Amino acid sequence: MTIDLQKPATIMRGIGSYVPSQVVDNVALSKKVDTSDEWIRSRTGIKQRRIATEKESTSDLAFNAAQNALKNAGLKANDIDLVIVATITPDMAFPSTACLIQHRLGIPKVACFDIEAACSGFLYALDIADGMLSSGRFNCALIVGAEKLSSIMDWEDRTTCVLFGDGAGAAVLAKTGKGPKLIGFKSGADGSNPTLLHQPAGGSLEPASLKSLENRGHFLKMNGREIFKSAVRVMGAAARDLIAENGLTEKDIDHVIPHQANARIVESLSQRLEIPLEKFFCNLDKYGNTSAASIPIAFDEATRASIFKKGQLGLFVAFGAGLTWSAVLVCF
Ligand code: UT7
Repeated sequence: MTIDLQKPATIMRGIGSYVPSQVVDNVALSKKVDTSDEWIRSRTGIKQRRIATEKESTSDLAFNAAQNALKNAGLKANDIDLVIVATITPDMAFPSTACLIQHRLGIPKVACFDIEAACSGFLYALDIADGMLSSGRFNCALIVGAEKLSSIMDWEDRTTCVLFGDGAGAAVLAKTGKGPKLIGFKSGADGSNPTLLHQPAGGSLEPASLKSLENRGHFLKMNGREIFKSAVRVMGAAARDLIAENGLTEKDIDHVIPHQANARIVESLSQRLEIPLEKFFCNLDKYGNTSAASIPIAFDEATRASIFKKGQLGLFVAFGAGLTWSAVLVCF
């Protein structure tokens, strides 16, 4: 291992998450949709997901996760001077969900914006926040990955609606204090095939109309098989490059928190990277794929289960619509 741990790094002062209370298991879903518990479990590893009520929006989930992260960091909302929310299901196209939670947190004037990098969004936000904190112009960032994916699910499309869930995860980052150190980043994208995973209508290309509603264009559409293959390839490459660029080998990695999309994707990634499956933390059985929220929810759960030992190395790795990908190295 050749990592210089004395080098100034961004520190994750606290992590927190929040999921809606409503649990929908596969059996309940199979009463609404032409599917079965057996199919969903064997093809994805998912057993249940959380679904927000009509009254709960993405900003509600984000706000609760942010409060939990602040509490775990031992900090107050007033300590924050930058808010970034990663989401593909903002409360509305604008203003940003970051502005909405800023108001609820009672921290007027601090910089706020959303980013849209789909399931890689939380890791992209860590990368961006690291740059902004390292510039010296910001001191303490609140990063949130939050999704109400049930709001863009086509409940008549069994190939997608069984896969996703709602939730939020948040982290508080600063250049000083105690907590896991963020020591390396690798974010990228390939925009050559945007329709592999997309929401066709509701934007400037196809604004909302009676026709777009009839065509169910406001729902998520996905080519699952192609996404599966790309996911393993791009996450594998991002992880390998990041590990090598930091003078490490795959053997140096103690824990992997992958994007929680499908247990079979995680198994294939483990084989490709030759990192044993036991080192991968998964909770997708409980929450399904929560897109930008999946890694912070998993990281929060793993942190609360005390699975990380001081000095161990962790790898976060994600892929998503775009295609986007991102990998982040962490020293616990
Ligand atoms: O964050 C990124 C988000 N996206 C992903 O991570 C998705 C990546 N892709 C996948 O996870 C997998 O491709 C899926 C789980 C989506 C699908 O698994 P698969 O093994 O690739 O199945 P398939 O699409 O090849 O479908 C196999 C069969 C088909 O029937 P036929 O044509 O073989 O008769 C489907 O119609 O399974 C059928 N099927 C279902 N059956 C019961 C598809 N969805 C369902 C369902 N219940 N929910």
